[in-house]
Amino acid sequence: MTLPEPNQTLIEIIRDRIKNTPDQKITFADYMELVLYHPEQGYYTSGMVDIGKAGDYFTASSLGSDFGELLAEQFVEMWQRLGKPKRFDLVEMGAGKGELASDIFNYCWHNYPQFLACLQYRIIEQSPSLTQQQKQQLQPWQQKGNLRWETWEDIPNQSVMGCLFSNELVDSFPVHRVKIENDNLKEIYVTLNGEDEGTPFTEITDDLSTPQLDQYFQDMGINLPSKDYPDGFETEVNLAIIPWLETISRCLQKGYLLTIDYGYSAEKYYQPKRNAGTLQCYIQHQRHNDPYYLIGKQDMTAHVDFTALETYGKHYHLEPLGFTQQALFLMALGLGNRLNSLSQGGQSVMQVLQKRDALHQLIDPMGLGGFGVLLQGKGLTANEQEPPLRGFTEKT
Ligand SMILES: C[S@@+](CC[C@H](N)C(=O)[O-])C[C@H]1O[C@@H](n2cnc3c(N)ncnc32)[C@H](O)[C@@H]1O
Repeated sequence: MTLPEPNQTLIEIIRDRIKNTPDQKITFADYMELVLYHPEQGYYTSGMVDIGKAGDYFTASSLGSDFGELLAEQFVEMWQRLGKPKRFDLVEMGAGKGELASDIFNYCWHNYPQFLACLQYRIIEQSPSLTQQQKQQLQPWQQKGNLRWETWEDIPNQSVMGCLFSNELVDSFPVHRVKIENDNLKEIYVTLNGEDEGTPFTEITDDLSTPQLDQYFQDMGINLPSKDYPDGFETEVNLAIIPWLETISRCLQKGYLLTIDYGYSAEKYYQPKRNAGTLQCYIQHQRHNDPYYLIGKQDMTAHVDFTALETYGKHYHLEPLGFTQQALFLMALGLGNRLNSLSQGGQSVMQVLQKRDALHQLIDPMGLGGFGVLLQGKGLTANEQEPPLRGFTEKT
């Protein structure tokens, strides 16, 4: 496969943005926001993004229908736990190509028609090109009238009864990058490179752009900087989760927030030996860590700090109800039975092998199976919170 050229229009936009700041630099978070989400030229907004075999990266939902079907089992149990209300809202945030929603709808159509009749499915999606793909993928369900695309502004306060969820969304929020220099915590900024330097941008460090960064480490109980950390230690901070959680709480009257993503607890994320951070870029299934390569044509992500989601969630009345690994979550929801039933015939050898491979990938502890699954709840009675939902019952 040939590699694309960098997006020169986007590079000019970023150049202008930097030139128009008083000290000729923008935070890395601002750079990442522009590169991924500039309204016309960003990787996610310009139509460059593609997920799956022909694209830049796989997600669990691009591996087949099992992930969505097992998730559907969990949503049905949530609905039952809430007393089978006549309206159950599912709000998918960052829906990619719409495959997950399609798998959920198809599975419920065949297995849980009563649940489907109560379901109001909304998608919140930032990328216009992916929204188009979602609309195509989900055309049959749109016509039935219980599926809509909305922005946060469309959702009235305290109106959602059900579950808001995301798969691999939070890792794509823009992150600030910080670095320890001479025992001080500094921030990494992006500035212009010299005319003949090859790449248009380079990095410099300076004082923190916001006291929220210091506050974040205090909130996480991470003593940074300190003698435990080597000089040059670099890491990321995802401050965007804070307004995101606030918005979710504003919308959610009663129900759940389910977040699936790769990441760690704060203690593990910010351990001194992880001294180069977790920033990663993806292009055509190649992973590397150069955010200035093929600008606008590659994806960029950072691991999720699940302690931060729990801590800031609590600020907004989103109480932690469970945390597990994706492998355990899916096994508890029936993935093991699916593996067993593969040997019961009815499919060609090739189909069995492909299906087995997809199921194994979903639970591979070094890959998707090691992802974190966090459940938070709001407005729930004690009986609605306990016992744990099925996906959170499998222990290591
Ligand atoms: C890595 S993809 C995951 C897609 C999908 N959930 C899946 O499992 O295949 C991230 C998705 O989140 C969307 N996205 C990123 N930031 C967003 C935001 N702030 N609000 C809504 N969608 C967002 C992207 O456009 C994309 O659809």
